[in-house]
Amino acid sequence: MSSILLNSTSGPIDFESIKQLTAEEAKAVDVLIIKELSSDVVLINQMGHYIVSNGGKRLRPMLLLLAAKALGEVDQNHLMLAAVIEFIHTATLLHDDVVDESDLRRGKQSANAVWGNAASVLVGDYLYSSAFEMMVRTNIMRVMEILSKTTTAIAEGEVLQLLNCNNPETTEEKYLEVISRKTAILFSAATRLAAVVSNTSKEVEEKLSQYGQHLGVAFQLIDDALDYKATKEELGKNLGDDLAEGKPTLPLIYAIRNSNPDEANVIIDAIKNGNREAFNEVYAIVKSSRAIEYTEQRANEEAQKAMASLEVLSESEYKQALLALASFSVQRSY
Ligand code: IPE
Ligand code: IPE
Ligand code: MG
Ligand code: MG
Repeated sequence: MSSILLNSTSGPIDFESIKQLTAEEAKAVDVLIIKELSSDVVLINQMGHYIVSNGGKRLRPMLLLLAAKALGEVDQNHLMLAAVIEFIHTATLLHDDVVDESDLRRGKQSANAVWGNAASVLVGDYLYSSAFEMMVRTNIMRVMEILSKTTTAIAEGEVLQLLNCNNPETTEEKYLEVISRKTAILFSAATRLAAVVSNTSKEVEEKLSQYGQHLGVAFQLIDDALDYKATKEELGKNLGDDLAEGKPTLPLIYAIRNSNPDEANVIIDAIKNGNREAFNEVYAIVKSSRAIEYTEQRANEEAQKAMASLEVLSESEYKQALLALASFSVQRSY
């Protein structure tokens, strides 16, 4: 799928051009990340650099930086918090690949596949702690409040998801609760923190937080659709990991509701048993029930809400980039 996006004022913007708008700041954030990864414990250095240098879209720090630039000047605290947000994201990925038993991440062997589960869990913990140490350096109480609430909510989301695994009766509402917490809340923290550090009005802070929240839901909805329809090469992750784990994501929840009883039972069994072998059969039912289209439509609605939240911002190329990122999140194929 193309990553060319439509910009309402000046034609198409692609992801790379959006990236360019914060390239200088992103470089400074990367320097901070590398600096903070250095530890005299060799394995932390090794694993940290392995994950960080394997790429990743750096979408969350980009959101924070673009929001900061849309509001005015970027200061040291913005840069620090952009690194903090990426650390928290990376920590959740290390833990997530252990829980999901995934062996491919960012097109390479996942850290757990290389070093094992124990090392991944422990280095994930190191990244969390390191993120908190950095956050404290901002010395802004609101920042600490937001980030500690955020990591608590992420953990709740992950545990809720674990409870839903292998349960084919999971509803769309329960699923949305999970993705709001495990994914969207970190997006929301990124854009809210930009506002807090920039000392905006409460209204602007709330709207930016809503933008992040809706964008995050859209992003995870698409992630869950891509787990069925992407190509492994482009995504850099294995397809079908969700099914292998018996994860009742929206494509499956919708397909159960919108297929005949025999087909629904195939999906119900696959969720109960976490059956990767059933992937092709399940995929055919997901496809014929138009569950991917439904998931994408729900993501689109969330992206529209994200865009509407940006009305409070005055016009700038940064605001345009934030609008375009909402489209990117639903049109992406990786
Ligand atoms: C992956 O996030 C985890 C989800 C919330 C779906 P990204 O797709 O942003 O991962 P990277 O950082 O670009 O690899
Ligand atoms: C996102 O869920 C995980 C986090 C929010 C940490 P997934 O399990 O779908 O993420 P991927 O697909 O492995 O990146
Ligand atoms: Mg996963
Ligand atoms: Mg996924």
